[in-house]
Amino acid sequence: MSAPAARGPFVAGERVLLVDPKDRRYLVRLQPGGRFQTHAGILDHDDLIGAAPGATAVAARPGGAGEGRRFLAFRPTLADLVLKMPRGAQVIYPKDLGAILLGADLFPGARVLEAGVGSGALSMAALRAGCRVIGYELRPDFAARARANVAALLGDDADYRVEERDVYAGIDERRLDRVLLDLPEPWRVVPHAEDALAPGGILLAYLPTINQTAELRGALATSRFALAETIEVLQRSWHVEGRSVRPDHRMVAHTGFLTTARLLAGGFLAHGSDPGATGPGGEPGGM
Ligand SMILES: C[S@@+](CC[C@H](N)C(=O)[O-])C[C@H]1O[C@@H](n2cnc3c(N)ncnc32)[C@H](O)[C@@H]1O
Repeated sequence: MSAPAARGPFVAGERVLLVDPKDRRYLVRLQPGGRFQTHAGILDHDDLIGAAPGATAVAARPGGAGEGRRFLAFRPTLADLVLKMPRGAQVIYPKDLGAILLGADLFPGARVLEAGVGSGALSMAALRAGCRVIGYELRPDFAARARANVAALLGDDADYRVEERDVYAGIDERRLDRVLLDLPEPWRVVPHAEDALAPGGILLAYLPTINQTAELRGALATSRFALAETIEVLQRSWHVEGRSVRPDHRMVAHTGFLTTARLLAGGFLAHGSDPGATGPGGEPGGM
């Protein structure tokens, strides 16, 4: 499978996001001769193939009874895909994925160990940021689902390998840049992450409850990790229509807590080194 195009007109085989006037969203894979049917009408895929993203498609009412509902057709964003893609396990929501990108400082080429991978939402965000991701996942069905979701977004040649195994039993990789955890007992991974991460590397864990978060923070406090931080991301959307401008009545009040920490290097810098010395970056002590 090759990665879908990011630009240009819609092509057969790619997924399109259709949005109706009530903001209901549908993810549809375009097939020559295919039809998208709703109670509000039928859309021919052939009308969309070759159209520009952002086009308006008008559904035909069944039985040739004139125009049906209008749909806006867009190429789905990563957030659209995460919310609409097939999932086995609960995915991490887009608002938290955004915070993880910066909280874990995911960068192109970073060597990342992720466990468990679940449906692959976090894998997709990390890979799209340019990371090289190795996943550990207990359940073969979830591992297969994550591989399929990643291939649908990035093609078969994404830098992604998922191993079906228990991360609590250990991590084989060394000199990793990041360890990302979304599983029930991340404190059991802390000793393995100490061995697997390069000095200065970042561990990030996503947890749904504060009890679990407290247990993780306890394990981090007695480890070689420092700069531990826990945050929660609250996102409130607004209703903006004419003079009615106010927060929406409903919001996703809680998803999870994000905890990050950085691995210390062993030992201390020798006395006698000049703390005012500037390195190649012009910063005290070097880059
Ligand atoms: C909530 S899901 C992860 C969802 C994922 N972050 C996403 O965004 O799609 C948690 C996953 O952790 C896996 N898991 C639980 N314990 C594990 C372990 N010890 N080693 C590896 N995977 C584990 C579960 O099978 C499940 O798929």
